[in-house]
Parts: sequence; structure tokens; C-alpha cells
Amino acid sequence: MAPSLSFQEESREHLLSVDEEAGDGDHREVKFEVRDLVKESLTGSTILDKVNVDIPRASIVGIIGPSGSGKSTFLRSLNRLWEPPVGSVFLDGQDICQMDVLTLRRRVGMLFQLPALFEGTVADNVRYGPQLRGKKLSDQEVYKFLGLADLDASFYDKNHNELSIGQAQRVALARTLANEPEVLLLDEPTSALDPISTQNIESVLLKLKNSVGMTIVMVSHSIKQIQRIADVVCLLVNGSVVEVLKPDQLSEAKHPMALTFLQLSS
Ligand SMILES: Nc1ncnc2c1ncn2[C@@H]1O[C@H](COP(=O)(O)OP(=O)(O)OP(=O)(O)O)[C@@H](O)[C@H]1O
Ligand SMILES: [Mg+2]
Repeated sequence: MAPSLSFQEESREHLLSVDEEAGDGDHREVKFEVRDLVKESLTGSTILDKVNVDIPRASIVGIIGPSGSGKSTFLRSLNRLWEPPVGSVFLDGQDICQMDVLTLRRRVGMLFQLPALFEGTVADNVRYGPQLRGKKLSDQEVYKFLGLADLDASFYDKNHNELSIGQAQRVALARTLANEPEVLLLDEPTSALDPISTQNIESVLLKLKNSVGMTIVMVSHSIKQIQRIADVVCLLVNGSVVEVLKPDQLSEAKHPMALTFLQLSS
């Protein structure tokens, strides 16, 4: 079915009004602009259908929607893990297709559902990204990134295979933060974690947003999680952004598929 343009237009209005209400000059700035982003599968079916959305700087944007609606594909298009068409994704106003892809991925870090650490110690993992660019992190710098990910100094020497999944996810976060990204893309980062590890990650994300103005785009299946930490929520259905709402306005969603999804999820 063709996307409802009116829903998309309306969605953008919602997003802009969230910006204005923030009342802070920095929050009004748009970090990512996504314009008419489309993706078809090899067999010609629609995966992303003219997605139009603005991601405000220094905010947490939650992406929710039914399985197969295109959430991961959308997220991956923001750092070219999936290559979007030219002229559809802009970071600070620049088309990401025109940027050096490694520079883009340093600026736009990504964390997946399950952490995949490299062989070696936690410190080796944290040093990995900067080392690729010829920079050796000092011990103090490694401790700083561990601290940002809510890991104390005792983790420095631990081997990658002696960590719980929750700890490993925080090491993966520290490793991503060592690249000093401006944006974090998170694809269900806590779905494999227990409630305490989940809360640790959520509080780290809030701290990053508030202290360093990190822009965070997070796919989550947990509506409650989105309501706890997101500033704005995009509802993706069949490859279209059908609603953009504040987390406490989810019950006001109008799109029928979105409503059904929200009712079943709550
Ligand atoms: N590499 C691929 N080749 C062909 N089709 C794909 C590919 N990756 C994803 N798709 C299709 O694109 C659609 C969107 O997939 P995507 O993984 O983005 O959904 P999702 O919303 O993240 O789902 P989930 O909640 O299950 O993770 C699905 O119909 C999927 O089958
Ligand atoms: Mg997915």
C-alpha cells in the first residue's frame, strides 16, 4: 500500500513541535535529516517507503514498530551499513554518501543486540578504534571510557571471555565511545540483558545525552524502555514512519496499524 503522505507530514510537524518545546538552541538543531529514503528488496518488495524524519541533536529518538517493519534497515542506513541512495541521508547537512565511510562510522557509532568483543582484554577492546587511526589511548583515557560506560577500573585487565553479557555490552559501548562518536545507533541494545544491566545501560545513555550532547537513535521492542528514556518516538510500520510522538503521547497514535501494535505491546 502507498504510504500515507499526510501521516508523514503530520509526523514531521510533531517532531518540530517537540524541538520548539525543548526551548534550547542546541536542541533545535537537526543532526540527521532523512529525506524520501527508499529501499526495495532484490525481489522488488518495499522495505523502506519514502521515510522522512529529522533526528534532533542531543536527543534520544526511539524507533518502534512491528517485526519486519524496517527498523534495523533504517538504523543501518544512517552509517551506511546499508548504503542509502544519494541525497536521502544528511549528517549535519552533509550527504553521508559523499563522506568517507570510515570517518562516518567513527562519528556515528553502532551497538547491536549482542556484543561481539575482539580477542584480548577489555583495555585492548577499548583501544581498538583509536589504534586504527594511529592513536594509542593512555591508561587514564581507557579508564575514562570505561567509566562513561559505567565500568569500574577493575575491568581494565579482564579478558573478553570472562564477562557477563551485560558487562560485555558495556565494554562494547566503551569501545564505541573511544571513537568519540557524535551519534550512537543502538539496535535493541538491552534485549538480551537482565533488568539491572538494562537500567545501567539506560542511565549511561541518559548521561551521555545530558553531559556530552550525544545524539542517540535506539530501536527497542520495549515500549516501557522508550517511555523511560526517549525524547521522541518514531513508529515505523511497513517501511513508513507513520507517527512521530512524544513518549507520553503514544496512546494518541492515530494510524490503525500503529494503534494495534501499541495495544498489543503494552
Ligand atoms: N538483506 C536482506 N535481503 C532481503 N530482505 C531483507 C534483508 N534485510 C532485511 N530484509 C527484509 O526487510 C524487511 C525489514 O527488515 P528489518 O530487519 O529492517 O526489520 P526490523 O523492523 O528490524 O525487524 P525486527 O523487529 O524483527 O528486528 C523485512 O521484511 C526483511 O525480511
Ligand atoms: Mg531489527
